[in-house]
Amino acid sequence: MKLLEPISIGNLKLKNRMVMAPLTRNRATNTLPQAIQATYYAQRAGAGLIVAEATQISPMGQGYPHTPGIHSEQQIKAWKNTTDEVHKAGGLIFLQLWHVGRISHSSYHGGKLPVSASNVKNEGNIMYPDFSYKPSDESPRALETSEIPALIEDYRQATLNAKAAGFDGVEIHAANGYLIEQFLRTGTNKRTDAYGGSLENRLRLLKEVTEAVISAWGAKNVAVRLSPNNAEGSRSDTNPTETYSAAAKLLSPYNLAFLHTVEADVGNTKASKLMREAYKGTHLVTGGLTKESGEKLLEDGVADLAGYGKLFISNPDLPDRFKQNSPLNDWDNKTFFGGSEKGYTDYPSLKESQALA
Ligand SMILES: Cc1cc2nc3c(=O)[nH]c(=O)nc-3n(C[C@H](O)[C@H](O)[C@H](O)COP(=O)(O)O)c2cc1C
Repeated sequence: MKLLEPISIGNLKLKNRMVMAPLTRNRATNTLPQAIQATYYAQRAGAGLIVAEATQISPMGQGYPHTPGIHSEQQIKAWKNTTDEVHKAGGLIFLQLWHVGRISHSSYHGGKLPVSASNVKNEGNIMYPDFSYKPSDESPRALETSEIPALIEDYRQATLNAKAAGFDGVEIHAANGYLIEQFLRTGTNKRTDAYGGSLENRLRLLKEVTEAVISAWGAKNVAVRLSPNNAEGSRSDTNPTETYSAAAKLLSPYNLAFLHTVEADVGNTKASKLMREAYKGTHLVTGGLTKESGEKLLEDGVADLAGYGKLFISNPDLPDRFKQNSPLNDWDNKTFFGGSEKGYTDYPSLKESQALA
């Protein structure tokens, strides 16, 4: 099975091609991962690579309750415990670098409005600090051109911090409607400076962030996540095929650890194929994959790595289960966001299930 074959990316040797996709679980305490996060990730060290949950690069980058950060000494120290435990368990772990942009609320920022490419309101729900999930009652503030160098510097510093915390690399979160995507898409980017208007200008923030992150660590330890599928409302783009193939072509020459494509429509491979064509390098695809469809993506050469999100939530030993053709645990979406060990560290491994039987 290709899924279980090893692969080298940059200087890292992955024991299989199954990647645990980044999963926000809202269980950090005061932005600090705790012992329970170390346990959770170490339980999943059988993945060829773990991409740890989206982690804010600055206080303004936060838009959900109880998410971790990577912008303070305390956070570096707290994460070190997780990376140590994953390494002890034989795993590899990247950190996903996150700035939510407009998917936030002033209640996270002492009354200051969230920032974005432009003053375009998000029509979807946001998660308030008390976990209520409803539309926002405010519009973001457009970042001044003069503020962008400091934003890029936050990504660079967060990369140095992730390295100091013992991660094996970082993934720049440029997907799923967050800040970098807000610059990429015509629906959210109405700017008239060098970061808006033409396609080249809309891609500029992605380019400059990627270069800054590479300058901090080297391209072999840097990945980028993109979600090329179009979306509803103000998150839409007038020509996503053009925008995203240009983004992939832009990233191609950097020789990154990998490009990570989010395939939003389960069973569809349109976005993955578009990215595969435009991007010359290691390609990770995530989105509704099963053992069979993940294997097929690798067989067909659409991807080199297959990402699994929800299946890794409920099956800490997912590669073993694939290998042994064993039944899979179902996930419980009521325990995805927030809470404690229930639905987090208590999904049984195969061995534990057998012991219980
Ligand atoms: C609970 C949950 C949290 C998620 N958090 C993140 C995240 O932090 N960063 C991200 O890029 N995607 C996030 N995603 C999207 C997943 O990485 C993945 O793309 C999605 O779950 C589809 O893959 P799957 O069908 O294998 O679960 C999240 C998804 C879920 C279900």
